[in-house]
Amino acid sequence: MNEIAPMEQFSEKPVVEACARAPVGLLAELTHRCPLQCPYCSNPLELDRVNSELTTEQWQDVMRQAAELGILQIHLSGGEPTVRKDLEDIVEVAVKAGLYTNLITAGVTLTRDRLARLKDLGLDHVQLSIQDVDDANAEKISAYKNGLAKKREVGQWVRELEMPLTINAPIHRLNIENLPNIIDFAVEMGAGRIEVANIQYYAWALKNRAALMPTRAQVLKSAEIVEAAKERLKGIMVFDFVVPDYYAKTPKPCMGGWGRGVMNVTPQGRVLPCHASETVPGLVFDNVKDRPLADIWLNGQAFQAYRGTSWMKEPCRSCPRAEIDFGGCRCQAMAFTGDAANTDPACKLSPHHDAFVAAAESESAEQTPPPFVYRRMSPAKAPAAE
Ligand code: SF4
Ligand code: FES
Repeated sequence: MNEIAPMEQFSEKPVVEACARAPVGLLAELTHRCPLQCPYCSNPLELDRVNSELTTEQWQDVMRQAAELGILQIHLSGGEPTVRKDLEDIVEVAVKAGLYTNLITAGVTLTRDRLARLKDLGLDHVQLSIQDVDDANAEKISAYKNGLAKKREVGQWVRELEMPLTINAPIHRLNIENLPNIIDFAVEMGAGRIEVANIQYYAWALKNRAALMPTRAQVLKSAEIVEAAKERLKGIMVFDFVVPDYYAKTPKPCMGGWGRGVMNVTPQGRVLPCHASETVPGLVFDNVKDRPLADIWLNGQAFQAYRGTSWMKEPCRSCPRAEIDFGGCRCQAMAFTGDAANTDPACKLSPHHDAFVAAAESESAEQTPPPFVYRRMSPAKAPAAE
């Protein structure tokens, strides 16, 4: 239970199992607009248009409601959150409400003045995503010219402004061999933390799975590299290693368990238990324009649907890990097995596990991966991945 969340407001119904009174974090997808076109983007295939985005006042209200609910951290994300001209107005209210604010950015649209302004307003942390530390490869992955040079600049500004920095490095077939250089880059940028995030295959990434899937040998090697670097960089940089599901034996507790610790608000204001949950049929997503955030968290249909363990089928229902991994990822179960209530196929006990592993092994063994389907607002021709 989260002690600082208001209890009385919605106390007429008992809180269901495994539901904290408040989530720890809220991912605010301020916009789906983004100058980059990464093929593993976690945004949905149907992107929210600019004219449907919440207004400044509506986002500010989300920040206040989040703080009242007892949420501790706000992750300002997108798309690219800095394309919103009112980012400062939103950050200012979030800071005043007492929230820890994290800006998740690709960096390419940021200026030093703007970053300094955000810092003055109280922005707590910057999370900078990178595609690779090889210029040409970074350009190919993001379909954006000179992005890496700009990211170096942003890293330097963050250092000069003495703000804490996380480097977020999505890892896949096209950059996994560069992992040691990616780690060095993060050290050079002065990052206190690095996310070595093997791609999770939902949304655009699922469309591009065959182009992005590394081999098992590459993944094992990358785990060794991370372990050695962790040791070497103790006290300098913290590692978050997101393991690749397809070569796992047990799944991750996706989102820390459905409706347990985090919530997402989309650019239009729909409130989701996870960024990919719109792929799960039968869920009703409430909007912050229509219902208080706290009520959505505690009683919203989408949050209740897979909260706790009572929805589980076998083998999860009687498994000793049921309250450890919560059956893995609902969106992955939906995408691969056609039923979100099935065991995540990443689990070795899932009847779909062998097919899941076989898909990764055969796709990663292809000498010539298929071209990327780039993430774009409107479909257009994009350069092919080699
Ligand atoms: Fe987790 Fe379900 Fe697999 Fe058990 S059977 S390890 S609960 S996914
Ligand atoms: Fe939705 Fe895992 S991404 S539950």
